[in-house]
Amino acid sequence: EKGGYDYFMLKEIAEQPKAVADTLLGRIDLAGNLCLDEVRIPASVLREVSKVVIVACGTASHAGMIAKYAIEHWTRIPCETELASEFRYRDPILDQRTLVIAISQSGETMDTLMALRHAREQGAKVLAICNTNGSTIPRESDAVLYTHAGPEVAVASTKAFLTQLVACYLVALYLGQVRGTKWGDEILSVIRELSEIATQVDQVLETMEPVRELARSLADKNTVLFLGRHVGYPVALEGALKLKELAYMHAEGFAAGELKHGPIALIEQDVPVVVVVPSPRGRSVLHDKIVSNIQEIRARGARTIVIAERGDETVAPYADHLIEIPATPTLLQPLVATVPLQVFACELATARGNEVDQPRNLAKSVTVE
Ligand code: F6R
Repeated sequence: EKGGYDYFMLKEIAEQPKAVADTLLGRIDLAGNLCLDEVRIPASVLREVSKVVIVACGTASHAGMIAKYAIEHWTRIPCETELASEFRYRDPILDQRTLVIAISQSGETMDTLMALRHAREQGAKVLAICNTNGSTIPRESDAVLYTHAGPEVAVASTKAFLTQLVACYLVALYLGQVRGTKWGDEILSVIRELSEIATQVDQVLETMEPVRELARSLADKNTVLFLGRHVGYPVALEGALKLKELAYMHAEGFAAGELKHGPIALIEQDVPVVVVVPSPRGRSVLHDKIVSNIQEIRARGARTIVIAERGDETVAPYADHLIEIPATPTLLQPLVATVPLQVFACELATARGNEVDQPRNLAKSVTVE
């Protein structure tokens, strides 16, 4: 059942190229347009949406944070992402023109379910992004876009996360497509680039041996920090979450721009810091700022573990360890940048003798609030 792997998590990490491809399957037509008729929210309704609110927990909330960047960029609709457990208790402002997107692998997470029930009571339309057919969250939503990751058994979410991202991009692009924005050409080219992602994830997986080796060498550390900005920030949070839940290590993700507002005080000799570097093409100002952050922390003794686009020469001199990922459009980078972080956490957990598929104190689906 583990298909020759020691753990379900390893198997599920390896299945990601297929999970991504399956989630795209049948959703892009030959002309390169999105066809999401299955969502069954009429285009006329989507054109009237004035606000998008995403609710989710844990890893799914990181997918939601990334979706916010994509939705606001491609559709110009204001979008907020909120932890489902916080959402309901602050009397959120919702109406018939609000589209609430509930993201959940299991479809049974109680906090997410309660959030969507609250949203529907206020008249909002709810679209579920879910991996489990017929589960409670899609049943109680107005519409559903299923991720096709296949069953995810390991407690730590991996392939479900990547497919949640794909689904979020599809929704963002679809909203852009039906509403028509000045980004029409970019939307078409991103749809094309999405079709390349499965191959690129595969390329990342083939180059993971140095990451595993690095993870083993850090097994006796107490702390690992993660930095990113823009869509790399939620990727940093996800890298830290994986490490907490699997390796039981103190791990924190920060927005790189926040460093000097506090976290830089944590930097001391040899503390490992993983930095997710945006593409030097695209929004290059972000790239340059993060390169100077890397210089700052390195000058204070940090051991820098840098995830950067292949061929990014400006960053290489400041990387104690360089993890190269394929070039993607800025907004899609999380699909490739997250994979080394999953492998890193899994290997560290193994090196520390932890139970990879069943971390202590955790359950695969959290059906209590
Ligand atoms: C982390 C993890 C959890 C889940 C969260 C939401 O690896 O698996 O943080 O992402 O409990 O679960 P779903 O997506 O089933 O609602």
